[in-house]
Amino acid sequence: MKITILGAHGKIAMHMHHMLVNNGHQVRGLIRKQEQSEDLKNLGVEPVICDVEKEEDISEAVGNVDAVVFAAGAGPGSGADRKWTVDRDGAIKLIEAAKKNGIDRYVMISAMGLDEPRGSEVFQVYQKAKAEADEALRKSGLDYTIIKPGRLTDENGTGKVSLAPKLDPGEIPREDVAAVLTNVLETPSLSGKTLDLISGNSTVEEAINKVLG
Ligand SMILES: NC(=O)c1ccc[n+]([C@@H]2O[C@H](COP(=O)([O-])OP(=O)(O)OC[C@H]3O[C@@H](n4cnc5c(N)ncnc54)[C@H](OP(=O)(O)O)[C@@H]3O)[C@@H](O)[C@H]2O)c1
Repeated sequence: MKITILGAHGKIAMHMHHMLVNNGHQVRGLIRKQEQSEDLKNLGVEPVICDVEKEEDISEAVGNVDAVVFAAGAGPGSGADRKWTVDRDGAIKLIEAAKKNGIDRYVMISAMGLDEPRGSEVFQVYQKAKAEADEALRKSGLDYTIIKPGRLTDENGTGKVSLAPKLDPGEIPREDVAAVLTNVLETPSLSGKTLDLISGNSTVEEAINKVLG
């Protein structure tokens, strides 16, 4: 499969690259900083420069692929403005590019607990921006899967997760999120699903099979 990842130098995306390449996929990584190109090339990923806040139409950068992944984020240090321009509008620009290029499959990294915004003012804007992006994707007509991880950690992955439409709050290593996203991309029957994700007791395959019933 050919896959384009927006936010390709992000921590989750960097875990995904070797998993996808090892499984035989071709990965196109959209980044906004030229100096990150070498890191992607070293992982077998084709770097493409694309700043989603500066470009209105990102379809050329996205290219002709089979699936796209939204892995970008304005990050914890950013203000409210960039929650809208990256976390919401960046995801929407990726929807528009997918439609324009005839790409059906869209996998979104969202976040748990968006229904009840909580925390600081900026964090609440982030949660609203992510919720609006998810809603735009659900209405897009694309074959979407929305994965909503709990609090992300940089611990080593355990390979054991819990995946379901609604889970109690929890946390999960980014490496495990990457493993789930890789499997989600390879499981088209997860299309149309929105799923919470935290650490748990099931292997990724078992967790996906439980969701599919
Ligand atoms: N932190 C949590 O606990 C938590 C929980 C649930 C979900 N999430 C979500 O998980 C996702 C991925 O997390 P992560 O830790 O892997 O993120 P990350 O390491 O912060 O990576 C985000 C990437 O987005 C890129 N980006 C920012 N602005 C951009 C722009 N204008 N154009 C193109 N790319 C841009 C950044 O590029 P630069 O390197 O150039 O800045 C960065 O590489 C995020 O969407 C986040 O909202 C986080």
